[in-house]
Amino acid sequence: MRIAVIGCGSIGKRHIQNLKALGVKDLVACDVRADRRNEVAERFGLAQTYEDYQGALSDGANAAFVCTPPVFHMPAAMAAARAGCHLFIEKPLSSTLEGVDELLSLCEERRLLVMTGYNMRFWAPIVQIKALIQAGRIGRVLTGRVGMSGYLPDFHPSEGPREYFMFQKALGGGALLDMSHGIDFMCWFLGRIEAVSAFHERVGGLEMDADDTTLLLARFTSGALVDFHFDLLGRAPRKSCEVIGEQGTITWDTVSHEVRAYDAQTARWTATSCEVAYNEVYLAELRHFLECLAQGKTPMVTGADGKHALEVIEAARRSAQEGRVIQLASTAAAAVR
Ligand SMILES: NC(=O)c1ccc[n+]([C@@H]2O[C@H](COP(=O)([O-])OP(=O)(O)OC[C@H]3O[C@@H](n4cnc5c(N)ncnc54)[C@H](O)[C@@H]3O)[C@@H](O)[C@H]2O)c1
Repeated sequence: MRIAVIGCGSIGKRHIQNLKALGVKDLVACDVRADRRNEVAERFGLAQTYEDYQGALSDGANAAFVCTPPVFHMPAAMAAARAGCHLFIEKPLSSTLEGVDELLSLCEERRLLVMTGYNMRFWAPIVQIKALIQAGRIGRVLTGRVGMSGYLPDFHPSEGPREYFMFQKALGGGALLDMSHGIDFMCWFLGRIEAVSAFHERVGGLEMDADDTTLLLARFTSGALVDFHFDLLGRAPRKSCEVIGEQGTITWDTVSHEVRAYDAQTARWTATSCEVAYNEVYLAELRHFLECLAQGKTPMVTGADGKHALEVIEAARRSAQEGRVIQLASTAAAAVR
């Protein structure tokens, strides 16, 4: 099994390290930057690195990890699919929906697996919230709330606005694309989103042209209403989630690291501590992907899931631009059928 890693920045390096730790021996990598190529060759003992993905894909890779800034995900993934590779594409699947259907059709035609890297689905507290909802512990879900906040200059402290793509709209930076993890895991809990209303803008003084804040209200096809708060300005890094059902409430945040569940019948809270080592989540995600490759199983986070998050993102952008609620075309069409 040969795996090609496309893009050797922060997540590319993490995946190379983790793939090696999980026993993948045949790894090749590419990056447009020579310093990144040299770093991974030395640090991980890779025999071969390439300047572009065509080179990395020319040696008969079975799978490719797409770890570039989002705007390059589709061209790299398309080249890898044409070369016959199964795909692990980092989140967000892309920066827009352009080319996504073409890629997913090609992969379906060629029976290639596509996994989107929304790794929070492998994080113990998120897994636990999903299990509690599925077990009916809070009854029918009515409303919810997701918060994701962090200070962008703290993400890659050695890189400024000109080096790090997250500051730049043209490369797929910004809060909405980056923090779309929250959209993905809420859809994992509750199903598809059918309508969106959003603010999507720059509120703070960071040197960036991508959104530093997106506030998004969503109605799910189940009828549940959820608000998402994403910002790249908060000095205290924090993620949180609250799900309110007919019979109780579930809460979680990365300050307490506790999933707490309130049961209306007993009028009591129960709490479970869910603190895990940061890298464990990425290891779990890769174990799953390798298992899917070995057994031909459908990944837990599919290309279609990545596409749905992008539909929500594009609807949020339109809503902010046009100042109105946007109905998602895909869920409206599904309702008519
Ligand atoms: N799932 C997660 O938790 C997680 C965490 C971090 C990043 N990400 C995602 O991973 C992607 C990359 O993020 P990052 O933080 O590693 O960025 P990064 O800037 O650290 O790394 C990106 C790398 O891609 C290289 N690159 C750019 N264009 C290329 C091309 N055409 N071919 C080959 N290499 C190219 C750059 O030189 C750079 O080294 C983004 O989509 C991001 O959202 C996901």
